[in-house]
Amino acid sequence: MKENKFLNVRFLPLLLLVMVVLIAASFWFVSPVAAQDGTGDEPSNAACLSCHAEASTPMELPNGELLSIQISVDNFGKSVHGRNEVSCVTCHVDISGFPHPENDAATIHEYKVGYLDTCAECHEEQASQTQDSIHGMLLAEGNTNAPTCMDCHNPHTQPFVDEVSKATFAQVCAQCHNGIYEEYSNTVHGSALINEGNQDVPGCVDCHGVHSIADPTTAEFRNSSIYMCANCHTDESIMGKYGISTDVLDTYVADFHGTTVTIFEETEPGQLTNKAVCYDCHGIHDILSVNDPNKGLAVKENMLAACQKCHPDATTNFPDSWLSHYRPDREKFPLVYYVDLFYKILIPTVLGGMAIFVLSDVYFRLRKRFQKPAAESVSESKDVEKE
Ligand code: HEC
Ligand code: HEC
Ligand code: HEC
Ligand code: HEC
Ligand code: HEC
Ligand code: HEC
Ligand code: HEC
Ligand code: HEC
Ligand code: HEC
Repeated sequence: MKENKFLNVRFLPLLLLVMVVLIAASFWFVSPVAAQDGTGDEPSNAACLSCHAEASTPMELPNGELLSIQISVDNFGKSVHGRNEVSCVTCHVDISGFPHPENDAATIHEYKVGYLDTCAECHEEQASQTQDSIHGMLLAEGNTNAPTCMDCHNPHTQPFVDEVSKATFAQVCAQCHNGIYEEYSNTVHGSALINEGNQDVPGCVDCHGVHSIADPTTAEFRNSSIYMCANCHTDESIMGKYGISTDVLDTYVADFHGTTVTIFEETEPGQLTNKAVCYDCHGIHDILSVNDPNKGLAVKENMLAACQKCHPDATTNFPDSWLSHYRPDREKFPLVYYVDLFYKILIPTVLGGMAIFVLSDVYFRLRKRFQKPAAESVSESKDVEKE
């Protein structure tokens, strides 16, 4: 009885200690990852990289696709995650030793989709935006060509986005939209970005957004596209460098098309307009300098071709009556200028003259009525004499 009690009280803590040590030791020996790590807590990057830095045999997925499992120590170290101490196992939570648990993804796309929740844990904002975007919707519908986070950001090599140039972002899109990229790269915007590294011109994401890319075929997108262009094109600090007019929005809004589109926006948002917006005349992924001989809009035939898309009966002199982006100007549009000026002078003169006439008429009539009959007759006879 006494012995039993002694055992319970004195040996129980010791027994527990021995058990804990044994369990820890068994982990130490069973898991090669933990063994190389030494801390025993969670496997270090070095432990994983001891195999993955060299792993030259790719893994074959059930559909036959090959997944390279080699991870460069150097690139990972320089990546934004490597530098911010996001370790291998923070993302690969289910992997602690070798052999790894079975991964049942049949394709590379499926394999990547399996990690979407992992990214969302630390980047919630981008994840929820992406989910509502056109790409996210396609992904949810099961479109296997739609991009996951990993198609645009390699988790093992991604740098800080500030260290990435706009031109590189465009190449990210080009992986899947190469036709548009090719077309864009020959434009006034694209060639400046790709050939000269000019950061003032729009890349794909300046016009489309990044994680919240919308369907560009909707009425909202079309109606608001004017401001997408105007954001830059009304900015004197950008346009001054290129000698490009910043009047293009105001003159557009003053024009028949623009007036209609902007009124439309206010009264019937969400209705598709058939009036011209900037890109109907200038193009989208094929915008050129207005002086380009083959397509530039300052060349009359090219302008006419642009009008004919919607005004099929337009003839050579059709655009003559149209001010383009010009305010009425004496040199460029003398007729319009003088007509404008004429009305500017004529209308105030006519209205002002009428007002003076009416007021003086009222004044004389009132005076007539309240003047004494005697004085009246005298003044009247005087007036008659004068005439
Ligand atoms: C002993 C060598 C070895 C070590 C250590 C090792 N791996 Fe692997 N890993 C492999 C091999 C081999 C494959 C190929 C597929 C397979 O056989 O499971 C692989 C596949 C993978 C894959 C792709 C397949 C999957 O299951 O998702 C990931 C991710 C991975 N390892 C992550 C890790 C991480 C994280 C660590 C560190 C905790 C690690 N590995 C440690 C050898 C190793
Ligand atoms: C920020 C999260 C994150 C970190 C940190 C990370 N991985 Fe990955 N890893 C992923 C994702 C997501 C995938 C699957 C998608 C892909 O292939 O890009 C992946 C895929 C892999 C694969 C399969 C082959 C491949 O490239 O698709 C291996 C092997 C792997 N990781 C090993 C590692 C090792 C080793 C480390 C640490 C040095 C590490 N990972 C760190 C997120 C991460
Ligand atoms: C279609 C390509 C694409 C997809 C898909 C994508 N990104 Fe991005 N992401 C980019 C580009 C390009 C930038 C740089 C944007 C910039 O700075 O203008 C960026 C920037 C970021 C940034 C930096 C902060 C910011 O918002 O600018 C984070 C974090 C990020 N992405 C995480 C994610 C996550 C998480 C996912 C998946 C839910 C994801 N991205 C999906 C292209 C993409
Ligand atoms: C454990 C948290 C964690 C996870 C999981 C994670 N990241 Fe990150 N990520 C970070 C940290 C920390 C940074 C650096 C600081 C920052 O931007 O918040 C970073 C930075 C980034 C950046 C650059 C942001 C910038 O401002 O330049 C991108 C892009 C990115 N992560 C994408 C991803 C993708 C894609 C995944 C999924 C594979 C992922 N991350 C998973 C923590 C995480
Ligand atoms: C991994 C492939 C992939 C990448 C990378 C990618 N996209 Fe997409 N994107 C798609 C697919 C697939 C569609 C569906 C329509 C299609 O087939 O063209 C789509 C649709 C779109 C649409 C809507 C098209 C429509 O007709 O409704 C826009 C806009 C778009 N992407 C812009 C971008 C931009 C900008 C980038 C770069 C930041 C980008 N995409 C990167 C695959 C990708
Ligand atoms: C100057 C602004 C601008 C730039 C730069 C731009 N886009 Fe667009 N994009 C648009 C507009 C406006 C539309 C809508 C066209 C329509 O109504 O048909 C569009 C449509 C699209 C579409 C869907 C329709 C189609 O033609 O298939 C995709 C995909 C797309 N853009 C991808 C890209 C990619 C990739 C880049 C970069 C190489 C890019 N865009 C650069 C303005 C731009
Ligand atoms: C109905 C067709 C049409 C619409 C709509 C239109 N433009 Fe123009 N745009 C032209 C023509 C034509 C020219 C060439 C004028 C000239 O130099 O003779 C031009 C010239 C320009 C120029 C060059 C100006 C310069 O200083 O060289 C810019 C920039 C421009 N437009 C931007 C825009 C923007 C932004 C919008 C929308 C807010 C827009 N355009 C709407 C037809 C149009
Ligand atoms: C991010 C800013 C930005 C956005 C957005 C933008 N542009 Fe531009 N655009 C520029 C800059 C900068 C130039 C001058 C490039 C150069 O000459 O190297 C330019 C040049 C032009 C030119 C050539 C003018 C000339 O010299 O003949 C036209 C036309 C034009 N843009 C139309 C548009 C239209 C239409 C849109 C909208 C669909 C648009 N731009 C959106 C910055 C922008
Ligand atoms: C995207 C289609 C589109 C393009 C491109 C376009 N317009 Fe129009 N325009 C319209 C519509 C729609 C109306 C309204 C017609 C109506 O109500 O009868 C209109 C009306 C007009 C009007 C006033 C009404 C009239 O018929 O006299 C003029 C002037 C005009 N456009 C000139 C031009 C010129 C010049 C160009 C080429 C530089 C051009 N438009 C390009 C769609 C377009």
